[in-house]
Amino acid sequence: MTVPLFDPTTSIEPLRDRIEAALRQVIANGQFILGPNVEAFESEFAAFVGAGDAIGVANGTEAITIALRALGVGPGDEVIVPSFSYYASAEAIPPTGAVPVFCDIDPATYVATAEQVKAVMTPRTKAVIAVHLFGNVAPVAEIEALGVPVVEDCAQAAGSVGPEGRPGALGAIASHSFYPSKNLGAFGDGGAITTSDKDLAERVRMLRFHGSRDRVTYDEVGFNSRLDEMQAAILRVILPQLPDWAARRATAGETYAELGLGDLVTLPEPTAGATPAWHLYVVASDSPDQLSEQLSASGIESRGYYRRPIHLQPAMAAWQPAVDSLPGTDEAARRHLALPISASITDQQIEQVVTATRAALA
Ligand SMILES: Cc1ncc(COP(=O)(O)O)c(C=O)c1O
Repeated sequence: MTVPLFDPTTSIEPLRDRIEAALRQVIANGQFILGPNVEAFESEFAAFVGAGDAIGVANGTEAITIALRALGVGPGDEVIVPSFSYYASAEAIPPTGAVPVFCDIDPATYVATAEQVKAVMTPRTKAVIAVHLFGNVAPVAEIEALGVPVVEDCAQAAGSVGPEGRPGALGAIASHSFYPSKNLGAFGDGGAITTSDKDLAERVRMLRFHGSRDRVTYDEVGFNSRLDEMQAAILRVILPQLPDWAARRATAGETYAELGLGDLVTLPEPTAGATPAWHLYVVASDSPDQLSEQLSASGIESRGYYRRPIHLQPAMAAWQPAVDSLPGTDEAARRHLALPISASITDQQIEQVVTATRAALA
């Protein structure tokens, strides 16, 4: 039996009737942009995250750009971002006019520490993007204690919990993605920004609608970036399931450990006090691609997502790290391998993965 790397459909299946009914209702209402479902989802999602406000936007990439713009980031500014992340974490910076400054990560947790951020701070640093990578929870309070606002990139961390609350409520402002394969996935692109700062929330609402507050006067060059009613209606059905799905992702990680996977490969380490709803269960090994091929022969999907760190991507050539090297990034890029995980993964599937890994490394 094949074990897929991720499975966004099985857990949705029991909700199919309710989702279809919600979509029929949207069609009957005839209001497709910024209607009642977006408004309701925004307050339900803010309550879930524990933030004062949530604002729906078109996707998780624009959510970062708009959050940075709301903070006043612009030309002449620097924004710190880990080089080991999905490319969009850094791609979202240049559209503001600011430049990305790459920092290292801890290869044990896959997130940047406050010390690693501090190492690349300059008087031009206007914000830091703290990525809650793979569902782990970045030390946002420690980073903000350095005196710069944090944009939390929560794209991979829906349902995770940190010692001070959920990602999305830990820093000045946060971005979320509802891309279909995410822990909280829509049936198309979607995103949100959360913040407990009323002024920032107001600026985000203005920026997402062409830089206009009243739809008559255009105060700033903004964005056409909205979550649509169809996606919001779907997300309203799905959101109440997220705590259960997140719990399953967390216990799946524990089961991998209990079955002895840690004797074979290096397991991801939750940051202090965190319960990650692992979006990807990423282990480390000296020969990850070889292991991946052997797992594939046993019907088990696995993948190295970020072999080439962002600062080595051609589009980022102009913005090189100010530090000599990013050793944690290099190590993670070389050694990481994502193994199957989802809200519907079974203990039997986890056992199959561990058994196949043991056989491959024997
Ligand atoms: C860490 C991270 N940041 C940002 C994004 C961008 O989200 P989106 O695909 O919704 O634009 C993603 C996912 O694609 C991501 O994994």
